[in-house]
Order: sequence, then C-alpha cells, then structure tokens
Amino acid sequence: MIPVMLTVDLNKIVKADQDHLIHPLYHPNDQKDPFVWVKGSGAILTTANGRELIDGLACLWNVTLGHGRKELAQAAARQMEQLAFVTNYTGSTNVPAVQLAEKLAALCYPSINHFFFTCGGGESNDSAIKTARFHWISQGRPEKTKIISREHGYHGVTIGSMSATGIPGFWPAFGGRAPGFVSIPSPYPYRFVSQDSSVSAGRAAANLLEEAILREGPETVAAFLAEPVQGAGGLMVPPDDYFPRIREICDKYDVLFISDEVITGFGRTGRWFGLEHWKVEPDIISFAKGITSGYLPLGGIGVSDKVYKVIAEVPPERRWMHAFTYSGHATACAVGLATLDILEKENLVEVAGRKGKKLLDGLRQLSSLENVGDVRGLGLMCGVELVEDKATKRAFPAAAKVGVRMYRECCKRGLFSRIKDDIYMLAPPFVITDAEIDRAVNIIGEAIPAAVKSG
Ligand SMILES: Cc1ncc(COP(=O)(O)O)c(C=O)c1O
Repeated sequence: MIPVMLTVDLNKIVKADQDHLIHPLYHPNDQKDPFVWVKGSGAILTTANGRELIDGLACLWNVTLGHGRKELAQAAARQMEQLAFVTNYTGSTNVPAVQLAEKLAALCYPSINHFFFTCGGGESNDSAIKTARFHWISQGRPEKTKIISREHGYHGVTIGSMSATGIPGFWPAFGGRAPGFVSIPSPYPYRFVSQDSSVSAGRAAANLLEEAILREGPETVAAFLAEPVQGAGGLMVPPDDYFPRIREICDKYDVLFISDEVITGFGRTGRWFGLEHWKVEPDIISFAKGITSGYLPLGGIGVSDKVYKVIAEVPPERRWMHAFTYSGHATACAVGLATLDILEKENLVEVAGRKGKKLLDGLRQLSSLENVGDVRGLGLMCGVELVEDKATKRAFPAAAKVGVRMYRECCKRGLFSRIKDDIYMLAPPFVITDAEIDRAVNIIGEAIPAAVKSG
C-alpha cells in the first residue's frame, strides 16, 4: 500500500500549482490559497493540513459511492494487470466494455439498448448531438441539424456542448456559440412567468419548445437537449407535467429528445435515471460522472432501438464516423461494472432517495430565514436560493457576491460545495450519514445570516 501523503510540503505544492497547473474555469487569482485535498473517506474530504470537510457535492456531483472505496481500486488494479487498454475501434472489442453495455441495457430506459462510451459529459453531449444529426442526415433530411436546449442548462464546454449550454458566461471568450444552437427558457418553477394562463406552468414552459420548433422550422430541428433536473445552472426541478408534454411535442415534430443524465443518471434523484420520475423515455441519453462514481473518467451515450436501427442500416461508406481513442476503455469500464454492482448490492439508489428526502426536509426548516427565497430538490440533489427580498424574489446585486460569501462561510464551518450565483447547491455522496446531513444543514443555517451580514 502507498501511504497517504498527509505531510506534503504545502508551500511547494501551492507554488508549483501556481507556476504550472491550469485549472477548469481558470483564473490565477483563484489559486492563491487553494484547498490541497489529499484524502477522502465516505462523505468526508481531508486537506493536506488535516482539515476535514463534508463533501457537499460529491466533488462534482460524481463521487456517488463516497471516497476510499477499495472495491473500485481493486477492480481497476485487476483489469490493469490483465489488460489496461486495448483498441475498441472496428473489428476489436474487450470484455468489460461489452459487459458494461449489456448491463446498461438492462438498467436503462426499456427502449435504450445500445451504448457508445466516451471519457466525460461534454464528449457525451457532443456524441449525442452528432448522433441526432446523423439520424436525420442518414434518412435524407440533411437540413435537420439544429439543437434546441434551455437557459440555465449545463451540458459541458466542448464547442458543441458549450453551444448547447444555456449559461451565457461560457460563450463570449471563445468566439460565441457554434451556429445551429437555440435556447428556450427553463421551467425554473421559482422564477418562470407563464404567458399562458390557460394551461399549467409546466405545460406553458414545455410549449415554449413547440413555439421554438415552429419558429425555426421543424424541418431544421434535429433534437431537444435537456437535463431532467438542471444541475450546475442552479438546480431546477421541473413541474411534473413538463417532460410528458416535451415528449409529445418532440414526437409531433420529429425531433429527437436527448436526456442529459450526466448528473441524474445512476441514482442521484432516487431513480436509476431522471426521467423515470415522469414515466418519459428519451431517444438518446448522455451520461458520465456516476457511472464510475468518479473513480475513472468514463461517459457515454445510449440510443433507442429506433435510433440504433439507422446507425446499423446505413451502408458502410456512410457509417457513423464518430470515435474516441478511449471509447470503451477496458479499465474504466471494469470500474463502471464494479460501481453498478455496489449500487445494486447496497441498494444505494433507494438510499439516495431516502437521504435526499432527509436533506430536503432539513433545508426546508431554513425557509423561514430572512433571505431564503426557495429551497428545492429531487433525490439527493438540493438547492437553496438566497434573495435580498423574499416578497418580490429580488436577487442580491451581483456585486455583493453573496453566493461567494456563502460558499466561504460554509467552508469555514466544514462544508465544501458549490454555488451558482446566489444558489447554494448540495449533492453529497449517497453514503453520507444522517449525522453528516444534520451537520450540513446546521452549517448552512449558520452560514446564511453570516454571508448576508458580511457584505
Ligand atoms: C448535466 C451535465 N452535463 C454535462 C456535463 C459536462 O461534463 P464534463 O465536465 O465531464 O465534460 C456536466 C458537468 O458538470 C453536467 O453537469
């Protein structure tokens, strides 16, 4: 066993970090005093100087089984010793990739039975977008290429997935979105204002998709891309009648429905996949994160039998010309199989639903605090939206940086998670204990007035 490095030369690490490492969403100002994480166990993360914090977001929504799972390390080691990697290009295959695809076919929506593997969520969404376009182009409809997605949606930052991401801050520094991407408003129950009082807010929000399809021309729209529960954009749970209506609209106009299950896949919402809550099936799903509990990079797409038929029946010279070196990586797939095995054996999907309810009930107790505008969640993903004025839902001025202060106040007290503007988000590992949930709720209850006051 390699000993855990709790005694690193911190100054040296921080200096080398500043000198050589470019981080996601990078600006050097953020790396002046970084957390240097060296260890994890269950839902607890430990820094190099021995501080322990609750991992409130399962790192990046992904470490669902918690830290320090020896079974996953062993699955990786066993596969690496035998065959770490081998090409999965045409004419080759490997056992873990095949077994994982077979297992996913059993777990996923009934009509989704065919899988392609990637290394993460952005690649998965790019693969889904390209597959939707391929689907129509292969059937003699080359103009059907547009992708409609939603404001506040987060789908990754590759050129394709960034163009579908509905958070404008991601676009301008990189030349803007690629052509052919269109956004519609999110159902965001706390703030959605319906222009149509003849139907429920959920149906009104879904009908905006129909309006957009008609505006763009149905013959130009390939797919609608949406997360079942919007995550990184601020944690928005849709009304119950939203996705059933979305499905009807997609069917009416021959538009494929891509469900981005990068966060909601593999139990996060208390179901294996997010749309199960509303008994809706997509045509394509994209997934990543929880498939390996974050232990190795792995993602993918699953396509319905209908979409697969088109892929399978084109002549070889017009094949689905899409590929990644690491597609079907043997070691990553072995860890994926071990992850699914643990999820099943420990009944963790049901546990996530139960723990999520406890967390949401706890957070709802904070609703009476002066600046808590909204508390929301589904399964083990929750959000607390802070506002300056509850009666009017007026947000704090951006310059007040209340969300950033909230993040800091929580860190000070031992809870590490992420914010989107003034929305504090939580999605801990499924193995978080009841006592840790209570502690997280207490910390948030203390941090809110402290964050507001310190401005
Ligand atoms: C819903 C969703 N889709 C896609 C992505 C992008 O995944 P990745 O960062 O692995 O490219 C994320 C990342 O948080 C996500 O939350």
